[in-house]
Amino acid sequence: MAGTVAQQFAFRAATSDDAAFAADVMTAVTPESPWDPVSLRYWWSQPDEFTEVVRFIVLRGERPIGFTQIDHARWDVQPERYASIRGDLMPTDRTRDALSALLAPMEERAIADGARILRVSANEDDALRSGTILGRGYRKDRHQRRWELDLVANRERLLAMTAESRERMQKEGVRLMTLAEDTDPDVITKVWRLSEEAGDDVPTTVPRIPEATESYTRWTNAPEIHRDRFWIARIGDDVVGLSVLGYPPMRGIVGTEWTATARAVRGRGIARALKCETVAQAIALGVDRVRTGNDAANAPILHLNETMGYHPVPGRIDYLRAV
Ligand SMILES: CC(C)(COP(=O)(O)OP(=O)(O)OC[C@H]1O[C@@H](n2cnc3c(N)ncnc32)[C@H](O)[C@@H]1OP(=O)(O)O)[C@@H](O)C(=O)NCCC(=O)NCCS
Repeated sequence: MAGTVAQQFAFRAATSDDAAFAADVMTAVTPESPWDPVSLRYWWSQPDEFTEVVRFIVLRGERPIGFTQIDHARWDVQPERYASIRGDLMPTDRTRDALSALLAPMEERAIADGARILRVSANEDDALRSGTILGRGYRKDRHQRRWELDLVANRERLLAMTAESRERMQKEGVRLMTLAEDTDPDVITKVWRLSEEAGDDVPTTVPRIPEATESYTRWTNAPEIHRDRFWIARIGDDVVGLSVLGYPPMRGIVGTEWTATARAVRGRGIARALKCETVAQAIALGVDRVRTGNDAANAPILHLNETMGYHPVPGRIDYLRAV
């Protein structure tokens, strides 16, 4: 019975020292998508101007068996009051009742904190988790597609596409470079402004909240980000596009963190040119495959991924429940 299992669980506040354990839990649950302990620790150590986060380690007796997290935008910046509940349990302890016993107290806590709509996600090939979520009264909301690009099988095609894109950019006066090559002291502010504009164009149900400039500085300092692998496009003084692969320092698959172009320049091949630079560089670094993810309603990026040779892998389903 769920109640019996719930009584066996205790929760203690988690700190950044617990991030490596949380990364181990997620890696055990999805060995095909390992989580990096170094990156996770970094992110667990960072503040956030507009988001509130609490994290717990789930204990059965004295034994840590999982972790959980509630995060939500500050209510003053997102009056709709969506809250996300995350986390998981080690496979040895991961039954439907146990997952339910993890979710129930987190739901109570989020509601007590003022949440009006709860969000939980599951990988689309994870029937145990999605069954648990549906059983708790959630309904399916959005589908996040995931893709993988085989850099060995597609090498020649990708390098040819990169050469073609470079030529097109040169003709159009668009300069492609990395952050490391850029000398503009305002470049991070420009990347932030561009990302805020493009961020509003990503299909979403949960309203996007603003991000502070500081969060871009934190991102460029993250262990998975390298300034000489952070690609931007410039027209004159303006930053008009960016595309970035994250390289997990300890374990995990190299993946796109963010691709965006300014509204004024869309449809000119700039996003393709930037993504090509990131994968050509990954090929040169000896990476054998990269991943990317995007909302299933984001037509331009779906088209780009398809035409670059990405193939779909199981994605993620977001579920919502009004309280
Ligand atoms: C997605 C995004 C980066 C594309 O930028 P872009 O500079 O317009 O991209 P490109 O010009 O290189 O390529 C766009 C491709 O999508 C195609 N496209 C545009 N709108 C489309 C639509 N509604 N349906 C299908 N294809 C579409 C274009 O024809 C072009 O394909 P082509 O090269 O075969 O002609 C840009 O729209 C953006 O910043 N969106 C908001 C941020 C975002 O969603 N980022 C990705 C989320 S992870």
